[in-house]
Amino acid sequence: GKYRVVSTKSMPGTRWINLLVQQDCRVEICTEKKTILSVEDIIALIGNKCDGVIGQLTEDWGDTLFSALSKAGGKAFSNMAVGYNNVDVDAANKYGVAVGNTPGVLTETTAELAASLSLAASRRIVEADGFMRAGLYDGWLPHLFVGNLLKGQTVGVIGAGRIGSAYARMMIEGFKMNLIYYDLYQATRLEKFVTGMSDSIFSYGQFLKASGEEPVTWKRASSMDEVLQVADVISLHPILDKTTYHLINKERLSKMKKEAILINCSRGPVVDEEALVEHLRQNPMFRVGLDVFEDEPYMKPGLADMKNAIVVPHIASASKWTREGMATLAALNVLGKIKGYPTWSNPNAVDPFLDEKSSPPS
Ligand code: GLV
Ligand code: GLV
Repeated sequence: GKYRVVSTKSMPGTRWINLLVQQDCRVEICTEKKTILSVEDIIALIGNKCDGVIGQLTEDWGDTLFSALSKAGGKAFSNMAVGYNNVDVDAANKYGVAVGNTPGVLTETTAELAASLSLAASRRIVEADGFMRAGLYDGWLPHLFVGNLLKGQTVGVIGAGRIGSAYARMMIEGFKMNLIYYDLYQATRLEKFVTGMSDSIFSYGQFLKASGEEPVTWKRASSMDEVLQVADVISLHPILDKTTYHLINKERLSKMKKEAILINCSRGPVVDEEALVEHLRQNPMFRVGLDVFEDEPYMKPGLADMKNAIVVPHIASASKWTREGMATLAALNVLGKIKGYPTWSNPNAVDPFLDEKSSPPS
């Protein structure tokens, strides 16, 4: 291979490797056993000749790494993730390195985990499972693990992009929940989705009317507080940046219903996790389903002891189909740039205007 491409982790499937190898690339996959690579580990991997890197959300891609990659002749970096809060895009631009992410292929898989956590929390499945395994079940009781009925309750979505919209659709169509949503940046995407499905909602509405039930309703909230106050299940789907850091804090938690369910499959720092632990302690009927944590891989003290919390290790995109798709997109992001396609031609380029803004250092 003429080009050297490094992947900091082994990734599912072989399609991503074949794509690169068929196009003149030699692929090197890091064999280091530790889970999280340091900046120094990655500098060593890059070495003195490297055309592109596929990296992971656990890695800190800032000035030091983009400088090292650029010195090694590298022009492309792809995160194997849709979120790229671990990447300093300005630093990449400065060194003329194009950055890509892997949206789309993980939308439904991630929304399905948010839906799974919503159901698991509302029906207390994890708590009940622990009860069975502990040998505590000694007979059916009217009060045993009573939870909430989702049907007819209101689901609140904060962050109405691809994943938030897919989750909303699942909860409306699957469980006939009412919807209220809020997005910090855009007013359009979820509205488009709602309009797009108005036919099926309409016919379902006719069916409900005939059976004497009310059809589901949906609404864009005028403020985030409205979502917090009205919704029974709240799912967070924003990106992580300065504006969404600790978006859910002590004050906002206190605005939610005492028996609300909060789901986070976005990024840990969107929630003030210490405030959340305290809130869970004070409100035993408040439940939470978390896929992400403020200081991954750690949990804030006390969280693991809370019966009203369900915690899973950042697995929202972990379906076989999706992970193979993410690996393939990451390889294509790197390959396109190496092969000289302009950054603006890549739909998964994080900054499509890179070519106009920067000149690679000589
Ligand atoms: C996973 O968290 C991702 O951003 O893809
Ligand atoms: C519960 O198992 C019931 O039959 O109501």
